[in-house]
Amino acid sequence: MASPRGEFSSRFGFVMAAAGSAVGLGNIWGFPTQAASNGGAAFLLVYLLLAFLLAYPALMAELIIGRHAHANGVTALRSISRGPQTANVGSLIGLAGIFTVSMILSFYGIVAGWMIAHFCSSLASIVGLDPLATWLVDFSFIRNVGFMGLFMFLTAAIIAEGVHDGIERWSSRLMPILIVTLFLLVGYVMTLDGAMAGLKVYLLPDFGAAVKPQLIVSALGAAFFSLSLGAGTMLIYGSYIPDEGKLPALGGWVTGVDIMIAVTAGFVVIPAMYVALNNGVEIFGADGSLISGDTLIFTVLPALFDTMGTAGVVVSLLFFALMTIAALTSSISMLEVPVSYTIENHSYSRRRAVYLIGFSIALVSTLILFNFDALFGLVIAATTRYAQPLLGLMYCLFCGWVWHRNGILEELRKGQPDIEQGLFWAVWPWYIRYVVPAIILLIFANSLLN
Ligand code: PHE
Repeated sequence: MASPRGEFSSRFGFVMAAAGSAVGLGNIWGFPTQAASNGGAAFLLVYLLLAFLLAYPALMAELIIGRHAHANGVTALRSISRGPQTANVGSLIGLAGIFTVSMILSFYGIVAGWMIAHFCSSLASIVGLDPLATWLVDFSFIRNVGFMGLFMFLTAAIIAEGVHDGIERWSSRLMPILIVTLFLLVGYVMTLDGAMAGLKVYLLPDFGAAVKPQLIVSALGAAFFSLSLGAGTMLIYGSYIPDEGKLPALGGWVTGVDIMIAVTAGFVVIPAMYVALNNGVEIFGADGSLISGDTLIFTVLPALFDTMGTAGVVVSLLFFALMTIAALTSSISMLEVPVSYTIENHSYSRRRAVYLIGFSIALVSTLILFNFDALFGLVIAATTRYAQPLLGLMYCLFCGWVWHRNGILEELRKGQPDIEQGLFWAVWPWYIRYVVPAIILLIFANSLLN
């Protein structure tokens, strides 16, 4: 291996790892219902536009900073600073990212634990252990802590193996399984009665709904958070890209795969909801919109699987396997952020850093589970609604205003000597300086107002 701190060994490995980070619970339970409730294909169009015109440039900021420094967020931001003062601000932003992503992992681990529990429940039904199957889907403290702990352990076990043998190897195995499972589910759901009604809702564009400014802002938020921006994860994955990698194309692949999977998940979730409606399951909330989020995943879809007999158990097994994989390839990217910092800046061994930090985050998750009603929603809002956009803004500002333009050009040239002649260099530096920060501020202001 070229670098003692670890590197991705191929383009495929990097794209699977970074797309694995991006594709998570958000894509599968968030995007489809948001699209279906907000203008169908019209929302999709707005989402695509925003993903490529805004989220992609912000992703590039993190990748370029990371690759330049080949170091964790704190060191990376210091390395592109112009003096001691901006360096200190850089350290602070880096540390804030580490704290934020650790808190994200603390709630993500809880939700992912539920996915594993539902997966095990389907297995228990198959072998006829019905009381166990019921216990596994009941919301008990013991179940919640146990499965969160199991998920955290899996995450830690992968990260303990390092960048190449852990992150790259497991992402390259799990992502293709995820994609195949997803397409199998699409194929099957489409054969069921009621699926076509769902397809219409998903695909018929209603432009009136999609041009509402409120909606554009929420589509932008979805695109942004779905790409794991503003948490330092893409920065750290960028730091493991070898110098000969062509960054703009790599970022494009990651954005493309993330969008493709979100859109494909829509072909499962929305038709499945209308199959459920066809089978007598309630799919609309009190306000008339499609049920979304955790109620969709843990109530509506299981109710649908129940109406499907034996096939339902298999579909349920596949679906929760899919969710568990999606969660795992995201959670490993989260844990790598504090771990890389602790290894590089505090001389811990990887194994020691992984288990110490993994255990501490699991303790925080337990604390959240103890005070679930008070803390769960609070931690989600504080991290995803406030901290992520604000930190995303900071990375862009560092790229656009602090780092010398020549430094950026030099970095990009390493993998692509003719970068100056291309469209990317003509647009991106200007874009990241003015347009992206302005839009993030807009989202941020909007989420503060709501
Ligand atoms: N992008 C992931 C998802 O859609 C979540 C995530 C956020 C992952 C921040 C890493 C960092 O679920």
